Amino acid sequence: MRTGYNIAIDGPAGAGKSTIAKKIAKKMNFIYVDTGAMYRAMALYLIRKGIEPTDAKRISEVCQEADISIEYRDGEQVVLLDGEDVNAFLRTEEVGNMASYSSTVPAVREKLVELQRKLAEKADVVMDGRDIGTVVLPDANVKVYLTASAATRAMRRYLELQEKKEAADLEQIEKDIIERDYRDMHREHSPLRQAEDAVLVDSSDMTIDEVVERITALCR
Ligand code: DC
Repeated sequence: MRTGYNIAIDGPAGAGKSTIAKKIAKKMNFIYVDTGAMYRAMALYLIRKGIEPTDAKRISEVCQEADISIEYRDGEQVVLLDGEDVNAFLRTEEVGNMASYSSTVPAVREKLVELQRKLAEKADVVMDGRDIGTVVLPDANVKVYLTASAATRAMRRYLELQEKKEAADLEQIEKDIIERDYRDMHREHSPLRQAEDAVLVDSSDMTIDEVVERITALCR
């Protein structure tokens, strides 16, 4: 039986889900569960095993062997892959690209959804992803579909990379975002879509604090 208060935030890549969810978690003293990081850890495992992103059959087999778990250290989510803290390796384009393919494989989803539900069962959580309100936590207390235009999301990513002094091509980033959206929204299993009872929040012209305020108001 579920005893925790659950907030589900879904939406496309770059909408600001993790930034917003982290702030809400801090404000409300909830645990933040970043499900994208779990898919990324699985992707890292598959890359290390030399699996091709499009080889769904091998992904289905090999994902069974991966031991993924979550710990919280100083309030930060740490993803452990076979006991190793892999947080530092998850935010690369290579891993994101593999995750976008491997997350379409049902065996991968089943494994990670089970882990996500366990985390939400007893604790108060704010969980972000693509299928949280629709599949993982259909009974969540508050559901938000957080989005922003592709151009806005591309610009945010571009500025983020510039800040880190990494090479960035705005046009290419926007193209990648549109492609990733398409894959996330058109895959057969648990595609990204707004749950019927989710509240739509478009952050294109909102500040981070305005979005946080809007969602915490929904919880009240
Ligand atoms: O949010 P992110 O970029 O870290 O997610 C990485 C990939 O994982 C992305 O292609 C979508 C997928 N994902 C998913 O299918 N379901 C989730 N609940 C979270 C992420």
